[in-house]
This record gives sequence, C-alpha cells and structure tokens, in this order.
Amino acid sequence: AQSTGGEKYRPAFHFSPKAHWMNDPNGMVYYNGVYHLFFQYHPGGTTWGPMHWGHATTRDLVNWEEKPIALYPDSLGTIFSGSIVIDKDNTAGFGKNAMVAIFTHHNQKIEEAKTGLHQYQSIAYSNDEGETWTKYKGNPVLPNPGISDFRDPKVMWYEQGKKWVMTLATKDRITFYSSPDLKAWKRESEFGANLGAHGGVWECPDLFPLKSNGKTVWVLLVSINPGGPNGGSATQYFTGNFDGNKFVPNSTKEKWVDYGTDNYAGVTWSNTGDRKIFLGWMNNWQYANQVPTKAWRGAMTLPRELSLASVDGAYYLRSLPVKEVLPSLKPVYKKGTVTIDKEIDLSAYAKPLDGKFKLDLGLENTNNFNIILSNVNGQKLIIGYDKKNNSYFIDRTLSGETAFEKGFAKKHSAPRLLTGKKINISLILDVASVELFADNGLTVMTDIFFPGSAIETIKIQSKAVSKLSNLSLSKIDQKQLK
Ligand code: FRU
Repeated sequence: AQSTGGEKYRPAFHFSPKAHWMNDPNGMVYYNGVYHLFFQYHPGGTTWGPMHWGHATTRDLVNWEEKPIALYPDSLGTIFSGSIVIDKDNTAGFGKNAMVAIFTHHNQKIEEAKTGLHQYQSIAYSNDEGETWTKYKGNPVLPNPGISDFRDPKVMWYEQGKKWVMTLATKDRITFYSSPDLKAWKRESEFGANLGAHGGVWECPDLFPLKSNGKTVWVLLVSINPGGPNGGSATQYFTGNFDGNKFVPNSTKEKWVDYGTDNYAGVTWSNTGDRKIFLGWMNNWQYANQVPTKAWRGAMTLPRELSLASVDGAYYLRSLPVKEVLPSLKPVYKKGTVTIDKEIDLSAYAKPLDGKFKLDLGLENTNNFNIILSNVNGQKLIIGYDKKNNSYFIDRTLSGETAFEKGFAKKHSAPRLLTGKKINISLILDVASVELFADNGLTVMTDIFFPGSAIETIKIQSKAVSKLSNLSLSKIDQKQLK
C-alpha cells in the first residue's frame, strides 16, 4: 500500500502521486499481468503547468507503484492527454507487441499566436513495457485542421474493419479517424454538435463495445467542462451503434457516468478483452488548483467495472468497484435486518475507523434516510436518499475545509433511475473521498472532502421507522491493503 506518512488527506487505496500535480488518467493499458496508468503530471509544482505523462503500475488494482516520468515535453509542445495500445501485429513497425502512445502535443508558442493550430496528435513507442519511450520522428501524425480544441485521442483496434479507430475531442463534438498503421489518419465522421450536454468544451472521449444479452452496444464517453450536473467538470455518455465509420446514438439526450462533482476525464483500460475497467480523476477543474493538499494535488477514483443495464427500455451504464478491490474485507458488523427508529449508531462496532471503510446496506421501504459521517471536530458529511424526489445526495457543506473555493461547500444530488421500494447502496470512504454506488451501480456519486480529522462516527437516521437489510460494515486498514 502507499504510505500515508502523516500527510494530511493522503488516500490509502486510491492512487495519488507522491508529489506534485496530477490530472487526467492517460494511456491506461493492461499488458503481461500489469495495469499501467499514465497521467497528466506537472513535476514542477502542485498546480497545473507544462504537462508530462507520469506513470504508475499495479497488478491488483489496489497497490500502486509510481514509476519514473514516461513522456517529457519536446520541441512540438507539452504532452496532453491520450491513450496507449498494444500493437500486436506490428502495424506501425515499432516492433511486435510494442506499446504505442497516441497523445496530444500542446504548443504554447502557437497558442500565444492565436492561430488555433496549437494542438495536434503525435505518437511514441516503448519496447520494454513502458519503462522507456521513443517519440516517433514523423510527429505530428495528425496535424490540426484549424480547430482550437483538438485533443485527447483514444485509440482502439476495430477488428471488423481491421483498422485503428481514434476517437478525438474536437471542441464541441467528437471526430472519428481511422488508420492502418497509427501514422496515417483518415477522417471518418463526427458526432454530437447538436446533441448531448454543451455547457463546456468536450474532452477526453472513449468509445468501446459492451455486451448486453449477447447484443453488442457501443458506449461513447465524453467529458465536459464546465456543465456537469452538479457544477464544473463531469462525464456524459451515449449508447448506440458504431460501424467503423459512424457512431449512431440510440438517444440524443446525454446520461452521466457519475453525478458527484469529482470524477473527471475517466476512460477505460485498453487490452482487457471484453472486460471494461474505468478510472477517473477524482477532482473538478472548478477547484482542482486550490484543494488543500500539500505535497501533491490530485487522486484517482477506484477502478470500476462497467456493464450495461436496461431500464425502461433504455441502456444505462452500471459502474461498480472492480472485484479485485479489497476482496478480503471482513465485516466488523453484519446484520440481516435492523429496524431504525430515528437513529442507529454504528461507531461502537468500528473504533477506530480512521476514515477508511466500506458500508453496504439495503433499505426495504424507501423512507428518507441520512448516513451521517462525522469526526471529533464535529465536521460531517451526509449521504442520503430523498423520497420526494427519488434522488440520492451527498452534502459536504459542513465536511471540513471548504473555504478554498466558494462553490465547494454544497449539497449534490443524483436522480435514482429505479422506482422500486428496495434500495441498496454501497459507500467507500478513503480519508478524503466518498464513492457512492446505489442500486448496484446504476447511480454513482463521487465527492472529495477535507475533514480536519479522520471520520470516526457513522450514524444512520430516518424520521419514520425504517427497515434496513444486509447491513455490512468493514474497516479498511493497512493489513487488508497488502
Ligand atoms: C481534461 C484536459 C484535457 C487535456 C488535459 C490537459 O482535464 O483539459 O482535455 O488534454 O486536461 O492537462
């Protein structure tokens, strides 16, 4: 596990860099038993600056090892977001099974000249599993056609057409390109100028197939900043069909991957077969440069497995923590059913909680309820269900340090997609973040918060007499992280 080393707000089982600034996950690829995570990194400070690709690896999706910086700025620009593929058939000529990174070069000088041509796509390769990288001499491989925001290439192999497909964020829409060799790119089509959410610029897309009852459905993720459902940055998605040329959505209305304020620029690992594992940056551009951590700034969400669910004839994403995350948790408290009359306090079973736990519970009769997490300073985070609006919420108004940005102290809400009486929720706390998975991952909320001391108390309150089921509380300590 990462050391907590007395550093305030350092998560124990979410990835955060030892020092300096981090934003988007980049180049996530699985190879030879190792999950690689590259990330937008500024080694020169704890605020956003000239971008590099940092690098970390994990075998179990819980314990991370930070590696040396993978990609440095060069004469073409700094290194913005992008993806990595394994070139099994050596289509690019860099070697069989070469790792090839496809990323955006961001050129500051051209940006200052205001020609709108400052972002273009380039490639680099590694023949030693991501340890060392060589930039391709023919960069950029996709020059800028005159679009001011032209970035964040996510590349996949499209087997039916035997070609690479690049999904690129191009200002207010997505443009698809294809290539036989990762070097020569042809424009295929564009999507989204007239549909979906447009409260901000489109960034960090991802396109991938998922199976639902034997049928293949394509999912297109598009991050947007600002314009998220609870303010600032968030990730919308569409389901539909992709034929190698065009993405045709089955609804023009956007849906949201996560209704919390702190899951941005998330995409999926490549080279994991049918399995799709997602991870996002647990932050929001609205305040990312101001959050009150010291040695480092930024952490990632837990890796989440994505699948499809059908609700009222429409497809929705279900996201749940991957099964590898904390498989060995032993509950300190477990009850089949419990009746709450006003309040139950779980703290007695869990001392010391130390701000790290997993709480699962069912609710049999959809009454309003609040889960109040608090510390000795009287600061609290409230997670709950609102019966009138059939919605979930996280209220971090009184959760600790909030003054660093005026919009931070707020209550966020998320619609519940189901209408049945039985609710189930799963909460994961890691020092300074909460991840709420409701209705088996149909509604998800991720929020960060900054409590002055560790969360030690869990109280569940309901005004009416309510029946809880399948209650299970597990502490998460260093032992479980081994
Ligand atoms: C998203 C983003 C990307 C860009 C990167 C720069 O958070 O703005 O569009 O590539 O961050 O760091």
